Amino acid sequence: METYMWREILIPYEQAVNELVIKFESIVNESRRLGTYSPIEFVTGRVKKISSILEKAKKKQISMSYIEEEIEDIAGIRIICQFVEDIDRVVELIHKRNDMEVKYEKDYVQNTKKSGYRSYHIIVYYNVHTALGEKRIQAEIQIRTLAMNFWATIEHSLQYKYGHNIPVAIQNRLIRSAEAAHMLDQEMSKIRDEIMDAQNSFQYKSNIIADILNNLQNIKKKGDDIHEVDQLQDEFYRLWEEGNLEKLVAFNKHLDNIAEVYRVQSL
Ligand code: GTP
Ligand code: MG
Repeated sequence: METYMWREILIPYEQAVNELVIKFESIVNESRRLGTYSPIEFVTGRVKKISSILEKAKKKQISMSYIEEEIEDIAGIRIICQFVEDIDRVVELIHKRNDMEVKYEKDYVQNTKKSGYRSYHIIVYYNVHTALGEKRIQAEIQIRTLAMNFWATIEHSLQYKYGHNIPVAIQNRLIRSAEAAHMLDQEMSKIRDEIMDAQNSFQYKSNIIADILNNLQNIKKKGDDIHEVDQLQDEFYRLWEEGNLEKLVAFNKHLDNIAEVYRVQSL
């Protein structure tokens, strides 16, 4: 096939990559604007080089007329996440979209490759509208964490350096590094849970404090013993400064009881 033909063939793929990158980046931007957590850290994309397409076709014995069907990664998108848990969220997001159709997926996150490679792959069909008309192309979306990406990038350049014949000693090092990257992801997941726990307990604490203030106000309104209210207020400041959540909860229960007595009395 002539080079100029290739240029024409690759135009829809270039457009698809540009569109898909923008679409996934808009998820990041939307989350940033809303101040919510984005499961996507960043997105990259590329169109496979003509030389790599020809190499792959030769290696897999694909005839020229089947290249676009059989080589599924002419358009390639990479979605990088902070945490392993985010990968599932991104996968879910892709399944829900109606501008791309999932052809199939490969879960190398659960099923680590022999090399140590981890990543979640989804092959999708995607419609592009070019000056020449509409075309349904395939794209490979790789979803992985920062740690998985770090490992894969290094391993890829070593594969390249050694012409896919990495010396055994280095191969073993790579496997150990893959295990270290996996451990890093696991440790980060624990931190993620802690961050979420901290956020939840912060929310819980501020709800309790709002309840206490509400109770104190009601008691002040209904009760005639000013001294008692002052004492309760002082007690609240003391507990608030101490910051012990359980004590604040117990104190709030105590206030609930007092408020209940006043409520019954005023019936
Ligand atoms: P390809 O011929 O590469 O398409 O392999 P495949 O059809 O068996 O698909 P697979 O899902 O195994 O790999 C698709 C892509 O994932 C590759 O083109 C790489 O980008 C990436 N990949 C898969 N395995 C490895 C690996 O061991 N190391 C690195 N660095 N990348 C990998
Ligand atoms: Mg493939």
